[in-house]
Order: sequence, then structure tokens, then C-alpha cells
Amino acid sequence: MKILVLFAHPKISDSIVQVEMLERIRGLDDVTVHDLYAAYPDFLIDVEREQALLLQHDLIIFQHPFYWYSSPAIIKEWQDLVLEHDWAYGGRGNKLHGKFLMNAISTGGPQNFYAHGGKDRFEIRELLNPFNQTAYLCGMGWLEPFAIYVGRRIPPADLSQQAEKYRDLAVGLRDGTLDPLKHLAKNYKLPASFATKKDKRHASA
Ligand SMILES: Cc1cc2nc3c(=O)[nH]c(=O)nc-3n(C[C@H](O)[C@H](O)[C@H](O)COP(=O)(O)O)c2cc1C
Repeated sequence: MKILVLFAHPKISDSIVQVEMLERIRGLDDVTVHDLYAAYPDFLIDVEREQALLLQHDLIIFQHPFYWYSSPAIIKEWQDLVLEHDWAYGGRGNKLHGKFLMNAISTGGPQNFYAHGGKDRFEIRELLNPFNQTAYLCGMGWLEPFAIYVGRRIPPADLSQQAEKYRDLAVGLRDGTLDPLKHLAKNYKLPASFATKKDKRHASA
């Protein structure tokens, strides 16, 4: 699979976790890293360019710090402009059918906060449900989110180990040693439109 990493951090010079994650995957064959804040500091997103990039890749990763239980603002702007009606969804909107989407995030809160009864009340996967449903509407498979918890307080050795896990995940998905269909988010059912892609590589799912 060809992987497109849509990276969004509004202040990369202050980043500890996201920068480490990025360094592990930057330069890998068939992995395109696209830094949205660097490309569009004024939020003037080039829709044609973004759509062309999407067409060239099979797995789209939104890589971002978890901000206010969601993503930094540019990812929302990107979605609002790039995922056009009759392109990404709607009657003739089939361009993303059969592709995969994943969030690769870092949080400030520890993992046990993100549970029913925990301080943050919901699981990370639930809080990312707008991405889940966006993938579904666009005929995509939504993969289990990858998360590194406790953010900037993470001990360096743990960060290194977690970032390496992220790299292994990306490499495994790229090379097919990890089957994305076995890596769908918990309880995610593929939409019927997933299998309408012209090449039926994934139709057996
Ligand atoms: C504006 C803002 C909002 C944040 N919102 C959350 C949040 O909702 N949940 C959380 O666990 N951490 C939150 N954090 C902490 C960041 O997710 C954390 O610092 C970041 O993922 C660490 O990665 P970095 O070193 O690349 O910045 C927030 C941080 C900022 C600056």
C-alpha cells in the first residue's frame, strides 16, 4: 500500500511526541509525509493538489496531537474543502472507495483517563467517531487509531519504543505483512461502497 501521512501540528518547534513519530516514518519508501501547517500557513488549501495526492495513495493517516478531544484546526479545514460532494461522497462520489483511513495521535492524558468512568469519560476510539463516520461515508476502511499517551511527560525510552511501534505499523501495512482488514477499528463494519472500487483487491472482506 502507498501511505499518505497528513501531518498537522500548529507548533512543531515545541513538539516532542509528534516530531519523534514523524522522524520514524519520514523517508520510508511509499510513505509520503505531507505537513499541512507547513504547506498552508494561511489555511489556503489547494484542493486539486490534495485530491491528486489522495488518488495516489491507499492508506491516509491523519497524524496529529489530540487537541480538545479532536484534531488541530487545519485537519477540519482540509476535510471541509477537500472531501467534496460527488468526489468523496454522494451519488458520484466514489474516489476514496476501497481506501483506508487511520488516526495516529498523541494525547496529554494517560490511557486510563480515556475509559468509561475515567476522567475523560470516553474511549479514544469513540472520541474519534467523526473520523470513523467520515471514512464510512467515503467508502473507506477505518483502522484502529494509534495513540501515544501522556504526551510530553512520557519518558524518552517509552517514547522511543512507542514511536518504533508506529513505524512498524506503517511498514507492516505498507508491505502487506499486516492485513488492514484485520486491523479495522473495533466494531467498525466496512460500508458496502468499500468493495465498489474498480480493482477488487479487498472484495473478499
Ligand atoms: C490546544 C491544546 C489542546 C489539547 N487538548 C488535549 C485533549 O483534549 N486531550 C489530551 O489528552 N491532551 C490534550 N492536549 C495535550 C496534547 O495532546 C499533547 O501535549 C500533545 O499530543 C503532545 O505532542 P507534541 O509533543 O507533539 O506536542 C492539548 C494540548 C493543546 C496545546
